[in-house]
Amino acid sequence: MFTVKIQGLVRHSKKIVTLYFNKKIPSYPGQFVMLNLSGYEEIPLSLSSPNSVTVKAVGDTTRALVEGNFEFVGLRGAFGEPFTISDRALLVAGGIGIAPLKYLYDFLKSLGYEVELVYGAKSSEEIIWKNEFENATFATEDGSFGIRGTVLDVLKGRNFEKYSKIYCCGKEEMMREVYRLLETKNCLNKAEFSLERFMRCGIGVCGSCVLKNGLRVCKDGPVFKAECLEGIF
Ligand SMILES: Cc1cc2nc3c(=O)[nH]c(=O)nc-3n(C[C@H](O)[C@H](O)[C@H](O)COP(=O)(O)OP(=O)(O)OC[C@H]3O[C@@H](n4cnc5c(N)ncnc54)[C@H](O)[C@@H]3O)c2cc1C
Ligand code: FES
Repeated sequence: MFTVKIQGLVRHSKKIVTLYFNKKIPSYPGQFVMLNLSGYEEIPLSLSSPNSVTVKAVGDTTRALVEGNFEFVGLRGAFGEPFTISDRALLVAGGIGIAPLKYLYDFLKSLGYEVELVYGAKSSEEIIWKNEFENATFATEDGSFGIRGTVLDVLKGRNFEKYSKIYCCGKEEMMREVYRLLETKNCLNKAEFSLERFMRCGIGVCGSCVLKNGLRVCKDGPVFKAECLEGIF
């Protein structure tokens, strides 16, 4: 484990912040770190850039991170399989699932590639970085930002042929529906999904994060090609 200083905190909403570290973590988009805040459980968080994580408060550790009353955190990583890179990308984000996809978006744009984003959440408060994406369609369930509906409502009308890869991260129910939609459109072979499971070691040893097909989310994922996820969603 190594220690980093928090050199910036951007508050996106009451429950969501981005914490910036004083150094870049050697990593690729899709990888995660195990973050240790003194006095709390160590938790996995995706990198939202080489030197940041973006956190939503759901329990004790994430609430303490969002409150932001600390100067240093311990990190292990970056760990896990990253997204593969492609030149015509569609990114599909639900809620805090935008965190690893922001890193991917910036990475692909820096290579000059075409990137489109479809980003949904419950309400406007949960949509962050509203002005940071050039080619984005937003959806909120209450209609407070973008179209009223879900990412599925946006995707149903899309032709997926022009994309070389489709990347998805969000709640499991949302990813399941995206998986099924892409299956009916015969383009699952282009899709990658970033999964979450309870993690302890983060390095493939303890068995906490094993899927029913035996794959470990921390080591074989968290990013999986759709073909590895048959029967998982
Ligand atoms: C590979 C990976 C990457 C992740 N990246 C991010 C990220 O970039 N940003 C982020 O905010 N979170 C991310 N998470 C989720 C984050 O790790 C959990 O929210 C965190 O561990 C919860 O810890 P806690 O102590 O705050 O809450 P706990 O006390 O552990 O849980 C509080 C409540 O939240 C629920 N909960 C726990 N884990 C999750 C979860 N994964 N999703 C939804 N609800 C949960 C519990 O069921 C419980 O009801 C990631 C998880 C994984 C596995
Ligand atoms: S967290 Fe220990 S094997 Fe994945």
